Amino acid sequence: MNTVYGVFGDPIAHSLSPNMHNAAFIELDMDCTYHAFRVSPENLKDALLGAKAMGFGGVNLTVPLKQEALSIVDADPLAENIGAINTVDFKEGITGHNTDGIGAKRAIEEKDVEIKGSNVLIVGAGGAARAIAFQFARDGANITIANRTEQKALDLSMDVSSVGIATGCGIESIKDVIDDCDILINCTTLGMKPKTEGTIATAEDMHPDLIVFDIVYNPLETRLLKEAKKAGAKAITGEMMLVYQGAEAFRIWTGVEPPIEVMKQAVLEGLDI
Ligand code: ATR
Repeated sequence: MNTVYGVFGDPIAHSLSPNMHNAAFIELDMDCTYHAFRVSPENLKDALLGAKAMGFGGVNLTVPLKQEALSIVDADPLAENIGAINTVDFKEGITGHNTDGIGAKRAIEEKDVEIKGSNVLIVGAGGAARAIAFQFARDGANITIANRTEQKALDLSMDVSSVGIATGCGIESIKDVIDDCDILINCTTLGMKPKTEGTIATAEDMHPDLIVFDIVYNPLETRLLKEAKKAGAKAITGEMMLVYQGAEAFRIWTGVEPPIEVMKQAVLEGLDI
């Protein structure tokens, strides 16, 4: 019988997850389908219990449900640390996971970049920054978090210090710390359409050995990544974090190795690039 998967969120119409997972199921000839469901926070518990009762294979959660889910599902330690869940599995009870950080990790590692022992500057202190900071700190990176609202950077770095090495500062300190950085990750919305001129740093701030990863994928080549190329630094585009977070969810649900290239093409087609 066909197994149903899905993503719950609101708004949800523009999610690329159905494209990505359905392409993977077709590629692997699996009798599964993935749909988008509009679910409000008030209805999340009923929706998850219903999905389990109906034999869903698993679901992803997106805005505004990721934090809400913590009080409903059995969260693994990383999701508990991050304080948000993006993947729910129904095999043993209802378990919650967060694959956003691992998505970023794999996007960077596929470029032959070692995370353990590297100095990573994360700019931003929202949900995405939180997931990446916890994942990378656990993986042995030295984390600096810079944010426009400095207090949020300090609070996040305090939280992350429970699992690894982290310090926080204001966004104006980027220039002071970037020289000692191996990896720079933009977790702010700067550079996202329609304000594509925004950037957290310019070529003058960067050195050629820097790896620059932008989680913004709309546009794919952001101003930040253009600046990185100008500086001779390695630029990594954001769609791979989306692909790898989905791939990790796929692995959790099915135990099957996901077809990364097919999933990437589905995302790029969905982005109309
Ligand atoms: P997400 O969950 O996707 O990480 P978020 O929680 O809304 O999104 O976080 C957005 C991040 O972008 C925040 O770190 C925000 O900085 P503040 O904490 O100071 O609000 C950052 N951000 C948004 N617009 C920005 C801008 N114009 N300049 C610098 N940082 C900005």
